[in-house]
Amino acid sequence: MSWQENLRDVEPYVSGEQPKLPNIIKLNTNENPYPPTPKVKEVLQNFDAEKLRLYPNADAEGLQDAIATRYGLSKNQVFIGNGSDEVLALSFLSFFNSQKPLLFPDLSYSFYPVYADLYGIPYEKVPVAEDFSLNLSDYTKGNAGGIIFPNPNAPTGLLVGLDFIESVLVHNPDCIVMIDEAYVDFGGVTAIPLLAKYDNLVITRTFSKSRSLAGIRLGVALGSQVAIKKLDDVKNSFNSYSVDAFAQAVGFASLSDESYFKKMCTKVIATRNQFAQDLQALGFTVTDSRTNFVFAKVPKNVSAQNLFDALYAQSIVVRHWPNNERIKEWLRITIGTDAEMAKFIAFLKEYIDGQSTI
Ligand SMILES: Cc1ncc(COP(=O)(O)O)c(C=O)c1O
Repeated sequence: MSWQENLRDVEPYVSGEQPKLPNIIKLNTNENPYPPTPKVKEVLQNFDAEKLRLYPNADAEGLQDAIATRYGLSKNQVFIGNGSDEVLALSFLSFFNSQKPLLFPDLSYSFYPVYADLYGIPYEKVPVAEDFSLNLSDYTKGNAGGIIFPNPNAPTGLLVGLDFIESVLVHNPDCIVMIDEAYVDFGGVTAIPLLAKYDNLVITRTFSKSRSLAGIRLGVALGSQVAIKKLDDVKNSFNSYSVDAFAQAVGFASLSDESYFKKMCTKVIATRNQFAQDLQALGFTVTDSRTNFVFAKVPKNVSAQNLFDALYAQSIVVRHWPNNERIKEWLRITIGTDAEMAKFIAFLKEYIDGQSTI
């Protein structure tokens, strides 16, 4: 018997590449092309290094208060973690302890099955419809040990309405329903108003996308006091100080400048809508994305793999899932600056012209 037989074997999540290409146009991990509010820079410049001697506030209370005020909730309905990936990881551990399966769409954030496997949570991947939409009836059978999906969904970009979510909640009073609102600020509809009515609803948010702070790692869960207390207890059984002092100060600064935040979201949305139109004009099929990315199927005479490679050779990096039969002709393209998207479209025009003359 070898010591290796006692080691944990897991299939890890594979995050989007962080390539070191010259003059890269990086459109593969849904980061924001614009910097965070200048108030963040101020905080970083004026940060008192002496403070780092001490542990940070374990509950990130200043930020917790600011988030509670921002969303009209009480402080103990807000949990803050080291990126929403950590919040999700702790949530799976806290909430999904049923023998019944956790349900999530088969086309969705690919970290969900990884957490479920890590913790041994039984789960079912629920097939999305032909047009990638979620079928309400799949989530209203009342036989779930938990439910989670992003709204808008990733990588499809599609949104369901609050009536859909409310119906899921009504039919599943015995389990936690989690809505991952990573992309909600780019044209989604938040489920926050439903928190007043359903104490089994938990919503996650991130500072990585709409607040341009992927590098600082800040994620949030919003829910009933009972659910958030459980999440806190699990966090405190793992790492009490998961959000460092820098992140707390930066998150607070970000929340204090809502006009900049709104302006930047509006800009990304406008670029996305223009980019989606430009892609369609070139023969691509696009979904109705309410996120900071576009999910696009290549025209008939184009191979997504070849296009992905050709883009990469130009230092334009997007996301492609070549091993998923259903979406292997689709690319997920993060919205960059107007100039980046114009370069992308200019390259595509040439590329597609080249294909039709072959
Ligand atoms: C649907 C979804 N949820 C959560 C995350 C994780 O975000 P964070 O950077 O806060 O860990 C992502 C990141 O791409 C995502 O796409």
